[in-house]
Amino acid sequence: MNQIINVVSFSENVVKLVVHAPRIARSRKPGHFIILRIDEKGERIPLTIAAADEKAGTITLVAQKAGVTSKRLCEMKAGDQILDLVGPLGKATHIHKAGTVLACGGGVGVAPLLPIVEGFKKAGNRVITILAARSKDLIILEDEIRQWSDEVIVMTDDGSHGRKGLVTVGAEEIIKREKVDECVAIGPAIMMKFTALLTQKYDIPTQASLNAIMVDGTGMCGACRVSVGGETKFTCVDGPEFDAHKIDFDELMLRLGGYKNEEKEAFERFMKTVTV
Ligand code: FAD
Ligand code: FES
Ligand code: MG
Repeated sequence: MNQIINVVSFSENVVKLVVHAPRIARSRKPGHFIILRIDEKGERIPLTIAAADEKAGTITLVAQKAGVTSKRLCEMKAGDQILDLVGPLGKATHIHKAGTVLACGGGVGVAPLLPIVEGFKKAGNRVITILAARSKDLIILEDEIRQWSDEVIVMTDDGSHGRKGLVTVGAEEIIKREKVDECVAIGPAIMMKFTALLTQKYDIPTQASLNAIMVDGTGMCGACRVSVGGETKFTCVDGPEFDAHKIDFDELMLRLGGYKNEEKEAFERFMKTVTV
């Protein structure tokens, strides 16, 4: 059992949870994630470790309501217990001295981006971060990102915070202004696909962290398989980060929507049980 120590609401749909998990807090690195199960009847869902406090023995998760499990998680309170939490899982990000790093985060993808931005900054890089979301209330962790970035550009689809436009608009401006040595993109698959197409045009090595559907998280079930450079990879053990220029994003998007009907039905069933 893992106790929730603190809950902070970022918006109606995005919540930060600080959870007691001392062993994970000690060993996690940027890029790692956990898989949790709220209770014995619950399904397993992966979430990135956004931060950790080794002394306090806690890890920070940022969850966005997407369906039944994430909604239940976002509604938990300090003092509640999560049945089990496995991790750290996945390969850590290859943090190194690259020069100038352009970090692009979309929506809740900013949570996994935060430890990577911090890592690259601490490794002596110049870090420029673009935070993008549909609207102001979906921009998360802006203060924390600013702490580790030399420059931050906020882009919203509706112009309600920062500048109006997609992440690629801000990214291309930076690329045209100065030499960018490496790019990291984390967010919805469509956002990573277009960021990858942009950086490919300018020949900038780019990593993307994939949000494939996961079940066991140990390379056994095959649920998280993706095609990278024509080869099948398992996101949970080979990733979650891959060379963005080699990822088949269209296949990923197709697979992400594979259980849409079942997820919709489950959500409707769940809403009935909580409203009657
Ligand atoms: P559902 O209604 O079941 O599904 C909604 C959508 O979420 C689906 O269409 C599918 O695209 C995706 N999804 C559903 N089940 C899974 C699953 N078992 N594994 C992965 N995706 C699934 N979300 C965050 O809010 N914060 C994070 O820090 C975060 N980190 C992630 C790190 C990794 C490595 C991965 C793979 C995913 C991460 N996600 C994160 C996405 C998160 O796991 C899904 O939003 C969540 O599983 C949705 O479950 P649900 O039951 O609430 O919604
Ligand atoms: Fe089962 Fe990756 S989640 S193989
Ligand atoms: Mg679900």
